[in-house]
Amino acid sequence: MTRLGILLSGRGSNFEAIADNVAAGSIDAQIAVVIGNRAEARGLEAARQRGLNAVSIPSKGLDREIYDRMLVEELHRNAVDLVCLAGFMRLLSASFIREFPNRILNIHPSLLPAFPGLDAQHQALAHGVKITGCTVHFVDEDLDAGPILIQAAVPVLNDDTVEALSERILREEHRIYSEAIRLALAGAYRVEAGASFSAEGTRKTSWAARGPSPSAFPPPAGIAAAFRAGAAGPTRSYGNRSGSPLPKPERSCA
Ligand code: GRF
Repeated sequence: MTRLGILLSGRGSNFEAIADNVAAGSIDAQIAVVIGNRAEARGLEAARQRGLNAVSIPSKGLDREIYDRMLVEELHRNAVDLVCLAGFMRLLSASFIREFPNRILNIHPSLLPAFPGLDAQHQALAHGVKITGCTVHFVDEDLDAGPILIQAAVPVLNDDTVEALSERILREEHRIYSEAIRLALAGAYRVEAGASFSAEGTRKTSWAARGPSPSAFPPPAGIAAAFRAGAAGPTRSYGNRSGSPLPKPERSCA
């Protein structure tokens, strides 16, 4: 069974949503380790209470490369296959990312590529956008920029505050992170370099993934993520630039 490694820094509500789905059997994986870079992270305590393997590796004052090597060792010690960043407030080094090619997911509270970095909800309000949301993407060496697996849109209300908007986005985060993990586990995507994918009869999605990608997770070839669309939902399948089709759509993507 696929072994997940969760990295977090704080509250851990995304981790808890994932853990609920793992416990309910709706994610076919096990949580091998939950690592926090702050000893006081609430998510670590929540992991302990669930009887999970919770490990505190404080990052304060440590050089990034040294710290990331410690993380990598802990993840390998626990035979982790897929790393899920769940509110992990640190940039990862290139060597960490190379260690888990296309096997690191992150959730971000905006519709990337809009509003990367910190305070995404504040950025959305400051720009006056009418729709924002959240994104689950593979992590590459650029900030909040790897191939996107799933997004969910959230309307911005006229009287929104950062808190109110964040709360509504968070509800969607809890839903789509588990959905993205299921897609990743099912291999229901491909990643290809800088490609533009047409969806048969639906819409066009373009990509700007950088450089040739190493193996995807689980190992199909390629770069830029593509998805199978749901039987019940709208058909949304993608081909690569040479036109070869993906397997028959099976599930819907948000
Ligand atoms: C979430 O908003 C997530 O999108 C961002 O950090 C926050 C973490 O929240 N990356 P939680 O710790 O999962 O509750």
